Amino acid sequence: MSKEPIRSIKGTQDILPDQSSRWQTLESTIRNTMHTYDYFEIRTPAFENTSLFLHSVGEESDIVSKEMYTWIDQGGENLTLKPELTAPVTRAFIQNNLGGLNPINKLYYIDSLFRRERPQKGRYRQFHQFGVEVFGSEFPEIDVEVISLAMSIFNTLELEGLTLELNSIGSEDCRNNFRTAIKEYLKPNFDKLSETSQKRFKRNPLRILDTKSLEEKTLLKDGPQISDYWTSDDKDHFNEVCELLDKINIKFELSPNLVRGLDYYTRTTFEVTSNLLGAQNAICGGGRYDGLVEQLGGKPTPGIGFAAGMERLLLVNQKSDETIKSQIYVIGLGDSARSLIINIALELRQNNIRTSFDLLRRSIKSQMRDANKLGAKYVIIIGEEELAKNIATIKNLSNSDQEQIPLDSILSHIKSLPLK
Ligand code: HAM
Repeated sequence: MSKEPIRSIKGTQDILPDQSSRWQTLESTIRNTMHTYDYFEIRTPAFENTSLFLHSVGEESDIVSKEMYTWIDQGGENLTLKPELTAPVTRAFIQNNLGGLNPINKLYYIDSLFRRERPQKGRYRQFHQFGVEVFGSEFPEIDVEVISLAMSIFNTLELEGLTLELNSIGSEDCRNNFRTAIKEYLKPNFDKLSETSQKRFKRNPLRILDTKSLEEKTLLKDGPQISDYWTSDDKDHFNEVCELLDKINIKFELSPNLVRGLDYYTRTTFEVTSNLLGAQNAICGGGRYDGLVEQLGGKPTPGIGFAAGMERLLLVNQKSDETIKSQIYVIGLGDSARSLIINIALELRQNNIRTSFDLLRRSIKSQMRDANKLGAKYVIIIGEEELAKNIATIKNLSNSDQEQIPLDSILSHIKSLPLK
């Protein structure tokens, strides 16, 4: 009786060899741009104390209230697989006193995250983000640098149909006053609000602005706007961000209801959406979190960052990638050729030449087919005749030209050929 094979978990994906080169190209584009902006990589553990996310992302957020993979381990600790990276990176920043070592820290990451969402196109339970977190500057120039860094990566990837949406949700004073005002305004219509908005009304009124309902959107249009509650510093800060973006020709749309779903944001918030994606159209989201370091027990330090979903970037980026091809395939037949072939392949590989040889003891014809399939440029043939004469036949697979060379000059000969 054959057993049912075990399958992967819903919402997780295998990245198979025919896709991994697209990931590698994406990752190297990200790293190259990060390095030109002088950002340094940070890597944090896959799991953290659950309380870290409760105290940063917020208990009422979708992530914390329904999407975290949380468990009590054998030692009784309450742990969570990281659903996002701003909180872990902030924890690491505080714990390692990075602020004491440098007044400004520009960090980046490429990592796997876990959220128990309902899987659909562009939404997975394990997914990847790249992003940045910058600690130490409250000034608009860093808001603009962070946004321009994200846009620069998207430009290098030649992504089209993107919109950058921008807003400021102000300082804490601004948000407190706005919360009171929006509750006051919506109170008479409370019964007409959706269940989600009714819950948000009680626990986190700012997030009512995230509503998908057209009726509620229309209602909100005539209500109080966050910008009416900006302090004069909030206003100056946001105006400067907009002016600087204009000066460096980054196009954006003002999006007064963009509050984002995580509790730590203050002032600037932004999102990049793509018109090539369906419901899950956000490829990148970010903003300021000037209170987060202090909230997690560090010295008051402003912060700003963003994260972009890499699966979504690859869905939007339809540019085909050059597949990596083999350069040399060593063909031989019989026991006497075997150790020679292994040696030739070893020597070529030690000289950074991509080399394959047959591992299934197949016929010469099948080996030739394999060489073509791998896209090898040349094959080195060691047959009976070659062995007897101490030579190798080198065949160019693109034009079938062939030549014979002494066995001991294979490396120098191959090196002299155009292998690319
Ligand atoms: P976020 O908006 O939750 O923000 O996620 C950022 C991006 O990650 C989204 O725009 C989307 O592209 C991708 N993403 C989120 N959930 C999924 C999923 N289930 N499947 C596939 N992709 C997904 C944050 O995570 C903040 N930590 C961003 C940030 C950094 N803010 C400041 N610094």
